[in-house]
Amino acid sequence: MSPSMIALVVEEENKKYQRGVKHLCDNGLTKVPTKYIWPETDRPIFTKPDKLIKPKQNLKLPIIDIAELLRPNRSHVLRTIAEACENYGFFQVVNHGMEGDVSRNMIEVCKKFFELPYEERSKYMTSDMSAPVRYGTSFNQSKDNVFCWRDFLKLSAHPLPDYFPYWPSSPSDFRSLAAIYAKETKEMFDLMVKAILESLEIDGEGDKAAEELKEGSQLVVVNCYPPCPQPELTLGMPPHSDYGFVTLLLQDDVEGLQIMYRDEWVTVDPIPGSFVVNVGDHLEIFSNGRYKSVLHRVLVNSTKPRISVASLHSFPLTSVVKPSPKLTDKHNPPQYMDTDFATFLQYISSREPKWKNFLESRKIHHIR
Ligand code: OGA
Ligand code: NI
Repeated sequence: MSPSMIALVVEEENKKYQRGVKHLCDNGLTKVPTKYIWPETDRPIFTKPDKLIKPKQNLKLPIIDIAELLRPNRSHVLRTIAEACENYGFFQVVNHGMEGDVSRNMIEVCKKFFELPYEERSKYMTSDMSAPVRYGTSFNQSKDNVFCWRDFLKLSAHPLPDYFPYWPSSPSDFRSLAAIYAKETKEMFDLMVKAILESLEIDGEGDKAAEELKEGSQLVVVNCYPPCPQPELTLGMPPHSDYGFVTLLLQDDVEGLQIMYRDEWVTVDPIPGSFVVNVGDHLEIFSNGRYKSVLHRVLVNSTKPRISVASLHSFPLTSVVKPSPKLTDKHNPPQYMDTDFATFLQYISSREPKWKNFLESRKIHHIR
């Protein structure tokens, strides 16, 4: 084949992958295409030479009972939240007030969305980061060299009336069920964030941030991970930290989420009906590094499709995020530069967003 023929074939191949994993699998697949094969050191089971291989053990994250926040032992719950945010960057919440039907319906209708014909789903495919609805694949499909085993649907969700008309109208009950879900997750976030800010013990500063976050942005990200014939070679999502203040994650009963804990990847045990809450980059900056925006990734498996719904909550796009003055002084100088959304957009459009690069780029390195 001539070089120009080869280029053409490669381009055709790439176009195929741009259509997503679901599309690829629907056409039958027994091997993972090279495009999805990660370098050995990034694969699911890579053990550093100096580490012993331990029997697989899932991580039980600290559990926060939201109902307890309304009872006399609120201060005890706040301390547990603070410790979880410092030591894990993650916790799970139960008794959060969302009816089981709301989350189950959301998962079911999202499954149905990903089962629609490709032509219907691809109506929402766009590279415009400001589009209210974005359908796509991998992590950043225009930049990723190696692809992830994941398709997604991202919905801007707050204020809801601004975005609702743009959401997919098929399946017919998608919009109404997703709207109930988005509204109730936002309410859960408002409640959670009040507690998280209170746990920082910064008084009025916390109330001010909570008010600002109430008017902030909400992005609902639906992740679809089809079964994968060779899950040991690829990843559903690469190691990343979440942009934003806090993420509320709903997963179905299939495990897959791993977090970096004490320098190792550990799988989070899914608790049916619970939400996983994690600290985002904004909260790490706001808390001046006290609460950690922790790296996490997703593994896939060969038998069960997996759906998760992440709700990312941030300050309004026009806000400047900086360490709370209550948490900085002469001895504790700010560890991060003031950061706004424009800086972030500029950053991710210029390179592959992985690891904690963005947050790292905002760090101030003090010379002692
Ligand atoms: C995310 C994320 C984890 C999962 O959407 O940012 O980390 O389990 N999702 O799908
Ligand atoms: Ni994430």
